[in-house]
Amino acid sequence: MPVITCIEDLKRMHRRRAPRMFFDYCESGSYTEQTFRDNCSDFQKIRLRQKVAVDMLGRSTRSEMIGEPVAMPVALAPVGMTGMQCADGEIKAARAAEAFGVPYTLSTMSICSVEDVAAATTKPFWFQLYVMKDEEFVDGMLERVKKAGCSALVLTLDLQILGQRHKDLRNGLSAPPKMTLPVMLDLATKWGWGLEMLKTQRRSFGNIVGHAKGVGDTSSLASWTAEQFDPQLDWGKIARLRDKWGGKLILKGILDEEDARRAADFGADAIIVSNHGGRQLDGALSSIRMLPPIVRAVGDQVEIHMDGGIRSGQDVLKALAMGAKGTFIGRSYIYGLGAMGEAGVRRALEVIWKELDISMALCGEKDVKALGPHNLLVPEDFEGRWA
Ligand SMILES: Cc1cc2nc3c(=O)[nH]c(=O)nc-3n(C[C@H](O)[C@H](O)[C@H](O)COP(=O)(O)O)c2cc1C
Repeated sequence: MPVITCIEDLKRMHRRRAPRMFFDYCESGSYTEQTFRDNCSDFQKIRLRQKVAVDMLGRSTRSEMIGEPVAMPVALAPVGMTGMQCADGEIKAARAAEAFGVPYTLSTMSICSVEDVAAATTKPFWFQLYVMKDEEFVDGMLERVKKAGCSALVLTLDLQILGQRHKDLRNGLSAPPKMTLPVMLDLATKWGWGLEMLKTQRRSFGNIVGHAKGVGDTSSLASWTAEQFDPQLDWGKIARLRDKWGGKLILKGILDEEDARRAADFGADAIIVSNHGGRQLDGALSSIRMLPPIVRAVGDQVEIHMDGGIRSGQDVLKALAMGAKGTFIGRSYIYGLGAMGEAGVRRALEVIWKELDISMALCGEKDVKALGPHNLLVPEDFEGRWA
């Protein structure tokens, strides 16, 4: 077993083990990837305030997200095609999250279906919905999600049209991969991945195939999105879905104070400050940069979560201290999954938990819920002046 010290170690192993098209799918942002890079580099601009001579026994990272107890306020974000990073990837990630005591969010664009994941876990997980033009499919999906016992619906608002990711076009991304010569040459060096994949039947979009009518080429995420996602999604349609769902609702993809006010007035249980990991509007500001103004605008009205660029427990600490009640990680756990399957996701969570716990202690804090701006050193120009 290799020594894994940090998320970067898992990323290196993921790159070696998974087919290039799937590693690249994970490791890309849209267009110039400016927002993708800023999500991480803006975290680096914030520093932690060291405190000494504080009793650090009895620390706790326990908290709640939308009223659910969590071992630490770090949920697994919805990630499409997780089951291509590693066979049955969604099941493995959900089981690792359950064992650790953090929420798992299943994507609409998953390989394992909502029924598959429900059958392999014992506690409720969350489901992320992309709104499709076909209302019958959406309504049917919501019924399936309720039947699977999911405890929250995460409605993603920032992907009704797909931001272009150059690597996916160059690699001919599809699930399952089409056997072109470059793909076959790559797979010849990824036999561990291939052998596991041969053992599972789950190799296309499990929530969709056999459930949506008139779906053409499901293997291509890009053409499927263009064909099926509803570009007319607006607050009226969101209200219809809220009423149809009737349970806890999290709105994902808020990056603007006005939108945050709208979402808070709307009565969402939580919002996720997010730019989809820099995969949609390239040129948007980073999530951590937009967190403070959104907290100032609606922090007393709605629970605020954030994602984008979290690669360590120190990053989680910074987001919480800036006012997020919870965080989500995307790539950080996907690296673990691509590297070592279920054990890799567990390892990613352990790494982040340990970094959070130790950094909290060195900041002189015993309770994750007590973190605040007093723990941070933020450069005066961090938020910048944008007109
Ligand atoms: C490979 C990949 C696939 C994703 N698929 C989805 C998805 O299906 N639904 C969704 O709402 N967000 C999706 N996201 C965005 C994540 O939920 C999350 O917002 C993002 O990964 C956070 O940034 P981070 O990866 O830097 O942690 C995806 C992100 C990645 C990296």
